[in-house]
Amino acid sequence: MSKVASGKIKKSSAKILDEFNASIMFDKELYLEDIEGSAAHAKMLLKQGIIDKDAKENIINGLKTIQREIEDGSYIFDIKDEDIHMSIENRLTFLIGNDAKKMHTARSRNDQVALDFRLFALKKNRQIVDLLLELEKILLELEKKHTDTLLPGMTHLQHAQPINFAYHLLAYSSMFKRDISRFEDSYTRGNVSPIGCAALAGTPYCTDREYEAGLLGFNSVSINCLDTVSDRDFALEVLFNISVLMMHISRLSEEIILWSSSEFGFVELSDEYSTSSSIMPQKKNPDVPELLRGKTGRVYGNLISLLTVMKGLPLAYNKDMQEDKEGVFDSIKTAFISIKILTEALKTMSVKKEAMLKATKKGHLSATDLADYLTKECGYAFRDAYKLTGEIVGYADDNGKDMSELDLQELKKFEPKIKEDVVDILKLYNSMNARNSQGGTSVKSTKQQIEYFEKWLNERD
Ligand code: ARG
Repeated sequence: MSKVASGKIKKSSAKILDEFNASIMFDKELYLEDIEGSAAHAKMLLKQGIIDKDAKENIINGLKTIQREIEDGSYIFDIKDEDIHMSIENRLTFLIGNDAKKMHTARSRNDQVALDFRLFALKKNRQIVDLLLELEKILLELEKKHTDTLLPGMTHLQHAQPINFAYHLLAYSSMFKRDISRFEDSYTRGNVSPIGCAALAGTPYCTDREYEAGLLGFNSVSINCLDTVSDRDFALEVLFNISVLMMHISRLSEEIILWSSSEFGFVELSDEYSTSSSIMPQKKNPDVPELLRGKTGRVYGNLISLLTVMKGLPLAYNKDMQEDKEGVFDSIKTAFISIKILTEALKTMSVKKEAMLKATKKGHLSATDLADYLTKECGYAFRDAYKLTGEIVGYADDNGKDMSELDLQELKKFEPKIKEDVVDILKLYNSMNARNSQGGTSVKSTKQQIEYFEKWLNERD
């Protein structure tokens, strides 16, 4: 059968229309949700006395057969069936006959597709959260090892102040935690059943939407049917959440790429997660983080694409909305593999403490500490202290030293009030440790942050 048999359309469709109109090549991904949805619908129809027990049993058994056929690969997906919904209904009619034709009572493909797609998005939200929790655990393991590992903290990609590596990674723990909460918020907001809205205006049958929603695991039932069949916010939220997640992954990837260059040499990706050049035998390329950075672009594209599809649509369902799925499937697949491979790459990455320390000794990272010292101990206004420190930086540069290596005599030439204690203050480790304010980089504060994430992860287990 080509298309849905209709009163208005007598001729079968042109082959090119089938090709153009069909979504089955991609929406077959929703087969399980479609089967679950139809089984719940049949149960509700029976409970309400709309179909009888035999019809319901036949429908459910037929749906089970179809699920088996799809999963063992014997099922034929045919573009003539247009989409997964018609495909399953047509197959069911072939398998069980007339009872199959009762299954679509009191629903429409408009609420059916809204249901299937929403169930799918909710399931994927959860799975992404689980993967992100694994990533958080790996980050935490790395952090615990590196509270004493100094590296230059940067702004403008210029050496700024000394920090420790755990503190740097904790910034990403924070980002991924926000990502998790975004997926969970979307899950809660999306956990509303669309089924029973029918085409756009509800149905004259005496249905029980609450019961059907309960069977499908929803928390509640949507308020307004016109909105429900028009709404793809849940899909947009998944696309947005994945976009923000990928932006975070991309920033970490960018850092890993920089860090694994010979200029930085801060980390080395394991051989398993590195690639080689086809011509330069000495090369080890960070293809994994590069691809993660690159894939972020297509994920943004999927978000913009669906936002654009939706922006001009009158209520309620329009066929344009069939364009909602491929981007979502693609972004979800991208998120899955990206989180997994990032987790593995981090797990197996080696951290080059010595190179980090060496880099910390470049760029006078304790200059702010000297300015603070002059302000606190020598009676300078901060702006004057800043200026004098600048001169001392110039002196250190001229003498090929880092400021942290200057001795007391050298410093006293600039300001006689400077005392012995300054030498310790300017040491890079001490400079890092001095930033002990809440959320700062000191070892104490870093450990508190680690504890915070550890407690959060334990409580979720
Ligand atoms: N294949 C369609 C989609 O993915 C299903 C809904 C069709 N509804 C309709 N009235 N044509 O959006």
